[in-house]
Amino acid sequence: MRAITVEPGKPGTARLEDVPEPDAREGAVLVEAVAVGVCGTDVEIAEGKYGWAPPGHSRLVLGHESLGRVVDPGPSGGLRKGDLVVGIVRRPDPVPCPNCAVGEWDMCRNGQYTERGIKQIHGFMSERWRIEPEYAVKVDPSLGILGVLLEPTTVIVKALEQVVAVGQRCFWEPKTVLVTGAGPIGLLAAGVAHLAGVEVHVLDRAETGLKPELVRALGATYHSGSVMDLEFEPDVIVECTGAGSVIADSIQKLGAGGVLCLTGVGGGGLSGYAVADAAAKAVLKNNVLVGSVNANKRHWYKASEGLTRLDRRWLSRLITRRERPENFKQALERSPDDVKVVIQFSTILEQA
Ligand code: BGC
Repeated sequence: MRAITVEPGKPGTARLEDVPEPDAREGAVLVEAVAVGVCGTDVEIAEGKYGWAPPGHSRLVLGHESLGRVVDPGPSGGLRKGDLVVGIVRRPDPVPCPNCAVGEWDMCRNGQYTERGIKQIHGFMSERWRIEPEYAVKVDPSLGILGVLLEPTTVIVKALEQVVAVGQRCFWEPKTVLVTGAGPIGLLAAGVAHLAGVEVHVLDRAETGLKPELVRALGATYHSGSVMDLEFEPDVIVECTGAGSVIADSIQKLGAGGVLCLTGVGGGGLSGYAVADAAAKAVLKNNVLVGSVNANKRHWYKASEGLTRLDRRWLSRLITRRERPENFKQALERSPDDVKVVIQFSTILEQA
């Protein structure tokens, strides 16, 4: 079968190649790939900046934002042939640490977790893949191709759960949420926050085009330019750019008692910015900075419920490009008009 693979740590090694059928030891459920979303992490892996091949292998099958159709459900009983499923990304560490032991693999403490398509386990960018039944999440069939948005939604559901957990350390009535960055994660954050009934603002560099349109279509307010120029102090900021200057401005701008949740993985420094000044702001306003990564089963459950509540037409506008597996190179290239690019392996009846 065909798969998109990469040699982690070596830029420019991604290719579409023939690989053996998935090993039965990878899980009792056999799935035919429908689509796989491409995210910044995949781009980083393809650029040789992140990612690990399975032990004893030099190449990794890419892809962690899956959507597939069950070909053989195995003996589990919970799934049927033809069901649409998405694969959970992370597996607990083998030790296990206390968090993995209680199913909170997203909070793994020893770093020995593994992740499909990212860290030591093959991903979902292959024509067929296998999965353990307990890591296959059934998707509402009426979502159709939109089920490919489930994985990024889980990341946001977990992040917002963290925000609420932190916020509840004191009397807290958040009214305004600012999302920085109008990529897929930012837009899904805006969508999920909107479902919670708060006032949602989204800030991005883009001045015109699809991103402002999508934000306004949600009933949220769009801003371009600097966080510092906003005329209000947000109660919550969900930071989805990973850009140093945006993070620094967010620390300054956050309202008292506020929570800044960092979801972007950036890199590099920020010259001229004093960490102690940021710390002083956080101290004097009782603010919290919380980092959030990945998601556990509870978040997968909540995200699939949230995804079905979001407007289908709005969600379908997030998928701006569908590429065939042979065009994976184009799929891994980001253009300013892209929100979510997916690699489509097989067709599916469109959502109702
Ligand atoms: C994925 C997460 C993963 C993280 C770190 C993200 O792109 O969505 O599931 O935990 O990368 O590897």
